[in-house]
Amino acid sequence: MSGRLPDNFLEEILSRVDIVEIISGFIPLKRTGRNFKAHCPFHHEKTPSFMISPDRQIYHCFGCGESGNAFKFLMRYERMSFLEAVEYLAKKAGLPMPQRKGYDQKAEGIAIQLYKINELAALFYEEMLNSAQGASAKRYLLKRGIEEDVIRMFKLGLAPDKWDALISHLRQKGINLSLLEKAGLILAKEGGGFYDRFRSRIIIPIFDIKNRVLGFGARVLDDSSPKYINSPETPIYTKGKHLYGLSFAKDAIKEEDFVVVVEGYMDFLLPFQAGLKNIVASLGTALTLDQVRLIRRYTHNVVIIYDPDTAGQLAALRSLDIFVEEEMNAKVVTLPHGLDPDLLVRKNGIGDLKEKIKRAQGIFEYKLGILKSRYDKDSVDGKARISAEMLETIVKFKNAVLKSEYIRCLAQELDVREDALWQESKKAVAAKTPPVSPEIKTVKKTHTVSPTERLLLKLMLEETELVHQLRDSISPEDFFNEKISRVVSVMFELISQGKNIEPRLLIDYLEDNEISEIIGESTFLPEELSGQDKERVVRDCIQRLKDEKLRLRRQHLHEQIKTAQDSGDNERLQQLVKEFHALIKKGN
Ligand code: CTP
Ligand code: MN
Repeated sequence: MSGRLPDNFLEEILSRVDIVEIISGFIPLKRTGRNFKAHCPFHHEKTPSFMISPDRQIYHCFGCGESGNAFKFLMRYERMSFLEAVEYLAKKAGLPMPQRKGYDQKAEGIAIQLYKINELAALFYEEMLNSAQGASAKRYLLKRGIEEDVIRMFKLGLAPDKWDALISHLRQKGINLSLLEKAGLILAKEGGGFYDRFRSRIIIPIFDIKNRVLGFGARVLDDSSPKYINSPETPIYTKGKHLYGLSFAKDAIKEEDFVVVVEGYMDFLLPFQAGLKNIVASLGTALTLDQVRLIRRYTHNVVIIYDPDTAGQLAALRSLDIFVEEEMNAKVVTLPHGLDPDLLVRKNGIGDLKEKIKRAQGIFEYKLGILKSRYDKDSVDGKARISAEMLETIVKFKNAVLKSEYIRCLAQELDVREDALWQESKKAVAAKTPPVSPEIKTVKKTHTVSPTERLLLKLMLEETELVHQLRDSISPEDFFNEKISRVVSVMFELISQGKNIEPRLLIDYLEDNEISEIIGESTFLPEELSGQDKERVVRDCIQRLKDEKLRLRRQHLHEQIKTAQDSGDNERLQQLVKEFHALIKKGN
């Protein structure tokens, strides 16, 4: 993202604005020593644990882990896009926005043209629906309970029953056919020439967050098959990256602090029309990581409604793990057989759907329920299967309290011993992380951050000079935590380019929430060390990291030796023992 703007422009902005002043424009701050404190605006809390450092120009919440610089605050708090935040702060800093460099002019050119084409196509389809030709399609929509103002709001349309309705309309306007093809609106005929992709179908434009038309869904007017066809992937439309209806729902989602996710267009339109405004549709079955992250910009709370069929259940199960990994709060509503949200609202009214949403099941209960219906929880085999599948999800919880609580519940539910589940959970973690190949002699990376690593990072963040000095004595691979390892390698790269390595700049450079959290936390570590102490502490830290690395490698080799012994692989055994001796020598 940042690459599109001249490198030093962001630095220039950040050096001119004051994060304390900016944040205090949104929430009240209190001074505490050199820093400022507030109630965290990103989670509910009684005692303030949101810190802002005027020296470092970053913020960090010790309650929820949210960290960042001024740009990130605006993106999170005001839901600005990165560019919007840059524009906002540039204005504050009195800097004009520069001509963007290294920017893909041609790609942007095509994108703009495709949006324009889609806009024109949508308008054409809309006109068709409202013309005499559209009478029966209009009747169809009204019969399905979709009202005129919703038809207008979502720009529903009709693709006429002709091979070239859109082609001839847009050709008259002088539109280049190859562009129409790129937009996925027309297809090439074998013998030359083109024909319309969408014919004799209700057209549903898919909008992005800025209300630009990305593509279309198109439904038949009867029971024929396929029921829907959709735009193919184009330079502006990637399946699984967007959510249908988000631009219409986003304010309500923020307001209510939760979102309802359904599968289909109709499952979106009917509830929305009936007053459930915090709703989006995934338009496929399983939610993707991109979609989950898109939701995360607005709320951490999600209620998923999927059809009760097996595909729907499986899709829900798959996306649940993504929510857990992204530390979001997801619940599931299972509808009665044969009903989807659209039918349910038409049959029982929106009140019934809202009631079901209120009573949505948590992830744990939901998954357990499905597994219990599939396997016999009273048989030994059933217990093993259910626990294995439940643990796959449970190990993904980053919060240790939640994890242990769920393991306790699972033990109770299945009537098995808790420590057996803990043991199995280790296997589930091992299965998740790909095995380290014995040929790659690095030590497995971890997700936890050791105090040593954090302290060393803090010191490196404080002094560019130290980073210079450390380049010969430590390498990014010496850190166990993969995120810190990335931060360090970027720091080395930046100083080799003669750049600054301030935390507020690294946060933009790396664009990773976990990384800004680690940087934020390290920055606010209380230790204040003077020159000499610092040198000693740094030496100690490095030594400790290296010792630990050696220890882990020894342990790893040891395990491999045992395996080689057990399997009687003598050649491998000899080679490993040799390595082991070499390692011990090096260690001493
Ligand atoms: N879908 C699709 N292609 C299909 C079938 C479904 O792209 N051949 C997508 C559509 O986005 C659809 C969603 O999957 O909205 C859910 O499918 P389904 O439940 O079958 O359709 P409904 O949305 O319920 O459509 P309707 O109520 O009009 O039958
Ligand atoms: Mn339906």
